[in-house]
Amino acid sequence: MSALPASTPSAPAPARVPLLTVRGLDTFYGKIQALRGVDIDVNEGEIVTIIGANGAGKSTLMMTICGNPRAAKGQITYRGEDITRLPTHDIMSKDIAQSPEGRRVFPRMTVMENLQMGAVLTDPVHFDDDLKRVFSLFPRLKERAGQRGGTLSGGEQQMLAIGRALMSRPRLLLLDEPSLGLAPLIVKQIFDVIRELNRNEGLTVFLVEQNAFHALRLAHRGYVMVNGVITMTGTGRELLARKEVRSAYLEGGAH
Ligand SMILES: Nc1ncnc2c1ncn2[C@@H]1O[C@H](COP(=O)(O)OP(=O)(O)OP(=O)(O)O)[C@@H](O)[C@H]1O
Ligand SMILES: [Mg+2]
Repeated sequence: MSALPASTPSAPAPARVPLLTVRGLDTFYGKIQALRGVDIDVNEGEIVTIIGANGAGKSTLMMTICGNPRAAKGQITYRGEDITRLPTHDIMSKDIAQSPEGRRVFPRMTVMENLQMGAVLTDPVHFDDDLKRVFSLFPRLKERAGQRGGTLSGGEQQMLAIGRALMSRPRLLLLDEPSLGLAPLIVKQIFDVIRELNRNEGLTVFLVEQNAFHALRLAHRGYVMVNGVITMTGTGRELLARKEVRSAYLEGGAH
């Protein structure tokens, strides 16, 4: 098992006010069906994770929520509004921010310019405060403010991708595999920041992760996805304790 000390659990699960609701979602790439009747609920103030193996459809779910690819069937509701067929830029202007898989920072822009890009849709009056907040969460970014995104280390790029997403002042943060390819210490640092944002600011987080151990310890609730189908759901603790989860996703202890 993990050598890490037991972390304090996330804040108690908040009252259930639905923020994002996904019902009966089907998504295709050509003839290949990537999502099959997916139902997900993310409530205000929760951290919800979706875990699953490579190719399960986790990123597809996150991208379908953002409108690309389009859902073939089903409904996505955000704060009571049906957003299933809205253009991506309309969805992203609704206080939803995404840190996509593979980080996707702008490689030729500096750290500061990347953060400015995150803030383009928000009132400039908030910029200084938001920048201060991101720099206090990730002091490394402050030290590297003038460095080009593409020359940052993997962990620094992940911090920048999350920092850029935070600059848009989201109510809902979508994170796709923030731990991918990072050393355990950096993973812990990034997950601690997510926990802190949730606990102190009530930020709602939808987290896609292959790192089931860390994700389920962090999340209030989780879903397991296999071949585009949700096969299990429960609190993070419940799923961590399930035999099927342990054998499929936690073999050999924490990843
Ligand atoms: N643009 C695409 N065109 C065709 N098929 C795709 C495309 N993107 C994803 N797929 C397929 O859809 C399925 C789900 O992929 P997805 O990227 O959602 O999985 P994932 O759970 O995020 O996996 P990973 O953990 O490796 O990131 C896979 O079989 C994948 O090959
Ligand atoms: Mg993925």
